[in-house]
Amino acid sequence: MERRFNFLFVALISTLLGLSACGGTATQNSLFGEDDPVKKTGEPEEYADLANPYTGDPDAIAEGEILYQANCSSCHGYTGEGDGPASARLDPKPKNLAQNQPNLSDSYLFWRISEGGLMEPFNSIMPGWKGLLRDERIWQVITLLRTMIVQ
Ligand code: HEC
Repeated sequence: MERRFNFLFVALISTLLGLSACGGTATQNSLFGEDDPVKKTGEPEEYADLANPYTGDPDAIAEGEILYQANCSSCHGYTGEGDGPASARLDPKPKNLAQNQPNLSDSYLFWRISEGGLMEPFNSIMPGWKGLLRDERIWQVITLLRTMIVQ
């Protein structure tokens, strides 16, 4: 009887702790959440308040498609769903860009694509593209990302 009481007590405490942990970190941890519906922020000052100069531009989308398929699709998949041929062996896995992009700001995208994942809290193999693609090119890729939708 006593044992059963202890079990219930532990279960109750765990539930309470679990609930408060979720409530307390929901906004603060939006950066880390997997496919979090909250718009992700957290970019450093130098990447704050950026806006894509090519939003909706068909030429930029076409350029972005070429750049994306050449540089990103091996990990993020041909349609951006995180299922490229190299993705299976990766930990953490490439993100589902098609699903996430509506919730990601231009600043966040430009920062993450420029700097990659070799930093806290990401610690991923996501390459940093700033020395490899000019700013204009990164914006073209972002313009393409904005057209991606979950299939
Ligand atoms: C070698 C594999 C690899 C390649 C190539 C790669 N990525 Fe990634 N990418 C990842 C991984 C793994 C993550 C998830 C971990 C992280 O956020 O760093 C990621 C995360 C991202 C994120 C963050 C998305 C989010 O929801 O927070 C963006 C944006 C992104 N990649 C865009 C790109 C673009 C654009 C390219 C091509 C220019 C590219 N990636 C090329 C592996 C890759």
